[in-house]
Order: sequence, then structure tokens, then C-alpha cells
Amino acid sequence: MALLDRIRDEIRSLGPMPFERFMGLALYDPEGGFFGSGPLRSAKSGDFLTSPEVSPWFGRTLANAIGEPRTVVEIGAGSGSLLRPLVDALPVPPQRVVAIEASPAARTALGDLGFETASDLADLAEPFAGVILANELLDNLPMRIAVRSGESWVERWIGLDEDALVLVEAPAREDTIAWLDAYAGKVADGGVVEVQLEAASWLRRALGLLRSGTLIVVDYGATTEELEPRRAIGTLRTYRAHHIGPDPLLEPGATDITADVNFTALLDVAQNAGADAALHRQDDFLAALGLRDTIAALRARELDLARGGDAMARLKVRSELKDAETLLHPRGLGDFRVLVARIR
Ligand SMILES: C[S@@+](CC[C@H](N)C(=O)[O-])C[C@H]1O[C@@H](n2cnc3c(N)ncnc32)[C@H](O)[C@@H]1O
Repeated sequence: MALLDRIRDEIRSLGPMPFERFMGLALYDPEGGFFGSGPLRSAKSGDFLTSPEVSPWFGRTLANAIGEPRTVVEIGAGSGSLLRPLVDALPVPPQRVVAIEASPAARTALGDLGFETASDLADLAEPFAGVILANELLDNLPMRIAVRSGESWVERWIGLDEDALVLVEAPAREDTIAWLDAYAGKVADGGVVEVQLEAASWLRRALGLLRSGTLIVVDYGATTEELEPRRAIGTLRTYRAHHIGPDPLLEPGATDITADVNFTALLDVAQNAGADAALHRQDDFLAALGLRDTIAALRARELDLARGGDAMARLKVRSELKDAETLLHPRGLGDFRVLVARIR
């Protein structure tokens, strides 16, 4: 049965569905979820372009942040466009590299690149010393939606109007309110906040697996304070074929569903787990790891080739240069946030 029909049936028999359940099904259902079924999504031909898909210098530059780890794990590894250049750039090859992916199509691609694959963090039974990476993963973890209502909050769940999925109001749950009290910031009446409890528990689990080493999480989003101006309608959105997509309720499974990540909440989780944790902007972080020097070297090479070199080689270097610069764009990928948590 089609995913939309199964969602309708569940609502008919159980009543309105919490938004996080809907988002989980729409993204991860094995027979209809956007990531859980269907083709590889994070590719040039797919639905969105991520930093590692834009340039291999993302992975190569991140390699400078992690020393010589024995184990490298990437979660939500997509096509392998971060892991491949990163592992190749490490001074000493790691003993173990694991690519964890919820998407079967992505696992096939990662297996073809020679990586050990798994479908969930839980498959890594034993804590290890090393590095955990995740780029654009947490924005896809199922969230709750809360709406400011006077001095209090209500949640948005999914109900039915005839056959159409519609948002309905539901009382805010206790743990929703606790998260909002800590991380919603100032929100006017009617303002919308995505409540990211699953991202918090994912981070706790990931840090619990790290006996010692570094966890690096990169995503769009910001601190609680920086997110306040985005609360009038909230930040939940869909993507399809590189463009903002339709209302998430229209075609569950056919679009990405995502929202800005609250990094203040994640920083607290990391610090409460005993990690030495800090937040950075992607542009500052990559610049500190040497990306501006790489760009200067590429520019010098392009100039050299312009003075009588091979025209094709020059075009290739120019395109590599432009792609590397895109990673630092202050209003684009450079504005992404990086959480670095070190466990000693
Ligand atoms: C936006 S894509 C990013 C892919 C890749 N990290 C990149 O930057 O190109 C998110 C990826 O995370 C995967 N994913 C989402 N939730 C996951 C989870 N809980 N465990 C493992 N993979 C997950 C999806 O299948 C998808 O490939």
C-alpha cells in the first residue's frame, strides 16, 4: 500500500499522528520514505547539493582537524563524497572506516567505494577511539512542531480532512515544553519552533560510542538567539530537485523534509556528556584548517596556466577553485555551523 494510504489508515484507526512520526515515515519508511527507499538523494543529479558534493576540498580540509584516527565513522554518508577525499588525505590510513546510511541506495554506492557499511549507529556495538562525522544529517532527524499560544505552547500533529492530510492542534507534551523552555528563545504569539529532541538523543548516543576522539557535526542552523527572527513561520521546509519543494503534507516520501538545526541545544548535550565542545561557522572553521591557503594555491596555478598552459587544464583548475570558494560563501555554505566535540 502507498505510504500516503498507510498514513491515512493509521490516523483513521489511532487518531491524529505526532509530527515527528509523520516526518519519520515520510523520510525513512523502507517502502516509500524519501531516504528509506528510492535513489541516492545527495548527488549532483539528486535533490540537494551538500558541501562534499560541491567540492572534495571539504573532506580534504576536514582531514586536517582529526589527526591520525584509528577508526573513522561517518553517519549519513550519502555518496561517500566526504569520506573518500577525507580518508585519502589522512597521513596514516585508518584501520577501520565505517559509512552508516539509512538509505539502501546510498549503502550500495558506499559499498562500491569499498567502505564497510551499516544502516544505523546502533550497529556499532562497541565504543571506539576515533572520529565520528555527520554532514547535513541532524536537519533530517524527525522533529516536533510547537506553536506559541499566549504564554504557553501547542503542538502541530497530522489529522485528516476527508482524504487530505491536515495540521491539527494537540496539547504540548511535557518533554516538548521542557525543550522549548530551554531552547525556543523569545517567540511571539503564533510563532513556530521545531523541537529537536531526536537530534539531542542522536548526539548523546554518538558521543556515548566515542571512548576518546572527536565528533564533528556540520549543518545549516544557528544558535537559539540567531534563530529567533526565523520563528514567525518556523524553518521547516521541503526540497526536491535542488529547489524548495511543496507542502510536506502533500506527497509524503516524495520530498526531503528539513529544518534549521538548533546548535545551542546540541552544544549543551555535548557539554553535558563531558565533551570539550565548541561551535564554529563553516567558513571560519575551514579557513582555520587551511582552505584559504588551498584556494590561494589553486589561484596561483590558474594564473600560471593562463600564461601559456593547456587551456583545458586551466578550466579544470578554475572550476576546482570556484567550487572550493563556494564552501566559504558567507551567506551560503560558509554560514553553516560546525559543532566539534572532543572526548579525552
Ligand atoms: C542531506 S543527506 C547528506 C548526505 C551526505 N552527508 C552529504 O553531505 O552529501 C542526509 C543523508 O543522511 C542519511 N540519513 C538520514 N538519517 C539517518 C540516520 N538516522 N542514520 C543514517 N543515515 C541517515 C540519508 O539517507 C541521507 O543520505
